[in-house]
Amino acid sequence: MCKEGSQPGLISASAPGKVILFGEHAVVYGRPAIAAPVSQSRATATIHSSKETLLIAPDLGIKRPLSQTSLDDPLAAVIHHFQRAADLPTLPPFTLTVSSQLPIASGLGSGAAISAAIIRALADFCAVTELATDEWVSALTYEVEKLHHGTPSGIDNTVVVYEKPIYFVKGEPIETFTVKRPLHLLIADSGISSKTVDVVMDVRRRWERETAVFNRLFDQCGTIAHSARTAIGTGDLLEIGRLMTENHHLLQKMSVSAPILDRLVGAAMDAGAMGAKLSGAGRGGNVIVLVDEGRETAVVQALLANSAKTIMSSNIL
Ligand code: PMV
Repeated sequence: MCKEGSQPGLISASAPGKVILFGEHAVVYGRPAIAAPVSQSRATATIHSSKETLLIAPDLGIKRPLSQTSLDDPLAAVIHHFQRAADLPTLPPFTLTVSSQLPIASGLGSGAAISAAIIRALADFCAVTELATDEWVSALTYEVEKLHHGTPSGIDNTVVVYEKPIYFVKGEPIETFTVKRPLHLLIADSGISSKTVDVVMDVRRRWERETAVFNRLFDQCGTIAHSARTAIGTGDLLEIGRLMTENHHLLQKMSVSAPILDRLVGAAMDAGAMGAKLSGAGRGGNVIVLVDEGRETAVVQALLANSAKTIMSSNIL
């Protein structure tokens, strides 16, 4: 059982957002994918002792006692999973405040980052930090992801917990790798929210109807991820960009793009980007653009002129 008051004051933990550089969707079907953390945009969980357990998430308009929260509420679900996994019969009352710089339902991994931050903060609050290895936090975050996503590959929880670029194959040990030359990315938000679970389920329906076609598309994405790993290792930025755009065209064929995403990718390329693609589940959310610093201003202007709502820059190191 957690020792009440054993950790006085405020406890805080955070986890980053992420981008999928290569291989979304195909990764659900066992093909390799590459993802990287976006460390400057984070979800943060803060906990302090209180008289009753209270959940506060200003960005989501949530402020309510845990006792009045249904079990399938996303924040409550993390707490219940944590309690069970840590084998704690009770938790002392606390106030949990969650804030996030990551837009929801936009392919930046906000759900996984929020869960991971809460799990780490709870482990600290309950003085069970020895349990909370990266492996344990990632596995628990994956369990919560399953509630919301149905059949997640596990890439989101892995990259936000380990906070390193990863080459990921479902069910295999995680592989981190070295980035020879930093990838300067622009992350442009279409402003359209899209639920991962809906898109993943739609792809599954299409895969069931057109199995051979989709298996071929997934294989091609896998080959791209494999080649991209070599290109990232040798610092061949032009090749990385080319592979990103090629991956976007395969995602279009899977029907997970959207007119605005295609427009943003096209505008970025016309303005001199090295490569661009949607990132995450698609149908909305973000596009990522690999850009030379010399072309950055022109590409930013082109993205804004084509309805990007916000643009963030991130260096993948
Ligand atoms: O959570 P999102 O929108 O970044 O999508 C995750 C990537 C998918 O490949 C579409 C799903 C998965 O579980 O890998």
